[in-house]
Amino acid sequence: MITLALAKGRTAKDTFRLLEKAKIHFPDFHEKSRKLVFYNENQTIKLIFVKAVDVTTYVEKGAADIGIVGKDNILEAQADIYELLDLNIGKCKFAVASLEDNSISYTSPLTVATKYPNVAQTFFNRKGITIDAIKLNGSVELAPLIGMADVIVDIVETGSTLKENGLSTIEDIEEISTRLVVNKASFATKTSQIQQFITQIKSVLE
Ligand code: PRP
Repeated sequence: MITLALAKGRTAKDTFRLLEKAKIHFPDFHEKSRKLVFYNENQTIKLIFVKAVDVTTYVEKGAADIGIVGKDNILEAQADIYELLDLNIGKCKFAVASLEDNSISYTSPLTVATKYPNVAQTFFNRKGITIDAIKLNGSVELAPLIGMADVIVDIVETGSTLKENGLSTIEDIEEISTRLVVNKASFATKTSQIQQFITQIKSVLE
């Protein structure tokens, strides 16, 4: 049996749709269920349903062989795992945003509010800009409005959260989408099961 860690949240529905299309069914799963563990029909796959930020931890530790999670969490986690497939769902981007200005001359040190401090550090380090990263767990857009940060680094999908809070993108950082990741040891010991799973998914990707 292989264990698959799947991220709860906004991309879960699309991921289940993709699995169904690939003929990987979890008969017990329904959206309102509070269950966290599901099995496919022939009991060859155990699915654990976990917080998106934790998927890479389960995979790196070997508690899950495969993970399905956003590139945002993969970049932030810096985990020692393989990223093998882009599932082409959950598309959005990382961006730097601030109060309507569009100025690209950053002050240094720059105060950056973000759910992704590692991503922010890496991006600004490459530019030679020193930052003071303030880690928040949500509603990051608030930080520049109340004078707590100069800019934010966050994911932007439709752009409406930025717009409704009077912020705008200064710079794009990176494209994001949902990816399939694999534990390194599992890839060596469960190669055929993992390859088969990936082949099934690949066959239905658009
Ligand atoms: C995410 C992200 C932005 C928003 C972007 O937050 O952090 O705030 O979605 O989406 P948009 O461009 O379509 O407006 P999420 O909804 O996960 O909530 P959070 O702020 O509580 O983290």
